[in-house]
Amino acid sequence: MEANDTWYDNCVSYQLDVATFHDSNGDGVGDFRGLTARLDYLRELGVNSLLLMPFHPSSERDDGYDVIDHYAVDPRLGTLGDFSEFIDEAKARGMRVMLDLVVNHTSDQHPWFQASRKPGSPFRDYYVWVDEPDDPHADQVVFPDRYDSVWSYDAQAKGYYFHRFHDFEPALNHGHPRVRREVMQILSFWLALGVDGFRVDAAPFLIWPKGPAQHSEDPHAYLRQIRRHVARYGRGAMLVGEANVAPAQLGSFFGAGDELNQLFNFLGAERIFQALALEDATPLHALRALLPSLPPGTQWMNFLRHHDELSLIWLDQASRETLLDTWAPHPNMRIYGRGTRRRLAPLLGDPARIRLALSLLFSRSGAPMLYYGDELGMGDALELPDRLAVRTPMQWSAAANAGFSAAPKAQLIRPLIEDGAYGYAKVNVTSQWLKADSQLNYTRRLIEIRRACPELGLGRHEPLECDGGPSVLAESYYLDEGHVLCVHNLSKDARRVTLRHDKLAKRECYELLARRKGRGDAKGQLILQLPGYGCCWWRVGSIFAPAESGASVANAIAEAPS
Ligand code: NOJ
Repeated sequence: MEANDTWYDNCVSYQLDVATFHDSNGDGVGDFRGLTARLDYLRELGVNSLLLMPFHPSSERDDGYDVIDHYAVDPRLGTLGDFSEFIDEAKARGMRVMLDLVVNHTSDQHPWFQASRKPGSPFRDYYVWVDEPDDPHADQVVFPDRYDSVWSYDAQAKGYYFHRFHDFEPALNHGHPRVRREVMQILSFWLALGVDGFRVDAAPFLIWPKGPAQHSEDPHAYLRQIRRHVARYGRGAMLVGEANVAPAQLGSFFGAGDELNQLFNFLGAERIFQALALEDATPLHALRALLPSLPPGTQWMNFLRHHDELSLIWLDQASRETLLDTWAPHPNMRIYGRGTRRRLAPLLGDPARIRLALSLLFSRSGAPMLYYGDELGMGDALELPDRLAVRTPMQWSAAANAGFSAAPKAQLIRPLIEDGAYGYAKVNVTSQWLKADSQLNYTRRLIEIRRACPELGLGRHEPLECDGGPSVLAESYYLDEGHVLCVHNLSKDARRVTLRHDKLAKRECYELLARRKGRGDAKGQLILQLPGYGCCWWRVGSIFAPAESGASVANAIAEAPS
């Protein structure tokens, strides 16, 4: 496999919703022209891959995840021409673009579903219909506080259709060859327009035999087929799966390196928040044994927060309750009994702790993804329903409507956060851009350093001997001659820490975040003072990655516009 084919194993991604990012025409809804106009902000931030939430025409009941036409752009967000121009401009800045592939289900307003309601329609089998469900399969419902069955009755069709999510999101029958063909065509369409990858929404449900969409062959053969299609027609394009499944099941989604290229690291996010809550690194050490090993050409996509809730589903009940008591003390902050719908900054509160969490994200093994606004410490709007709490418009400045839109306030797609500590007058791009020690500039620096440290994304990773006690996480990353050390103090109290490693003996070390120098003593010890929630990243022996590693060269190739 050529270097270019694995650009995704060390990219820095940024997830955003076009509709809430920037409005160019003053209609109150963000659009592709607005996003294109803000690409230089993203270039300056340093991200090199963009993950777009769905932007297709939809029935607007699940924030775009209820798609009506997979081949079009929601007219409020622009045209296919605007989309193509955006792709060109992103590529000209060395950025990859990934889309959300939402094909587990469609909107009930999708023409396929409307046709399928008519008995005898050729579209009937695109969905799953039964006259009388034998079992509600309540355990398969994704939103347990909303639904108690995966079946809903349709009077016109005189039958029940299957859905795991909302009742207005009927599940497609991926056991049907014509549905599979439609999926391949949707992929081809966007690949032809220059897309570099897809987030496979609800990936397990495309293949799980537990559902009624029966696959006659090995269901993983379908994922392999999708992967081959994307690789063949997408020139290095990739698939990142949303598969929040039990640890033991995770590995199967990578196959032998021939199914999904990446998986969102849900377990990793959960354990980062557990470690932060307990001020104890043990959950992060234990994570190493929980995650399956990576087949060649695959990678984790690490994140702290994204557009959905922070899921704590794989913790035991007592630990989950402890965490929810810590992070979501009010019932309105909780969702689906398994997580919290708060954003990163209000969740963690203390600015030093937020910076610590960002440092943890960017120093994990794997490829990091940042959720829009978290570089600023944007807040949440808990008065909005469900996950919309974390999907408010981007806060560009202290001007009217946060510089997001020139529309009258009442016309905005979603209310802005106006008041309090997270209101846009206080938290916005412009004011943080101007302030050297802002969270925005801290995040920029983290990303810059992270991108110059291929050891972190691609290297071997192991704990580093350290006497700081359980609240200090000390790790080593190696890639060829390159050696990076990352140390995080999860405690609010300062710690004096001695690191020990043979390779530190009498070596110069460079701290990359604060730009200072240290030196290992003759016994291979490096003594550090860490403030409460403090962190540091050291490169042993040199400031830059040694040329031998080749990985930085590979990154440069991967970033060249194709
Ligand atoms: C997963 C998406 O992440 C979520 O936001 C959405 O509600 C469901 N899929 C249903 O499409």
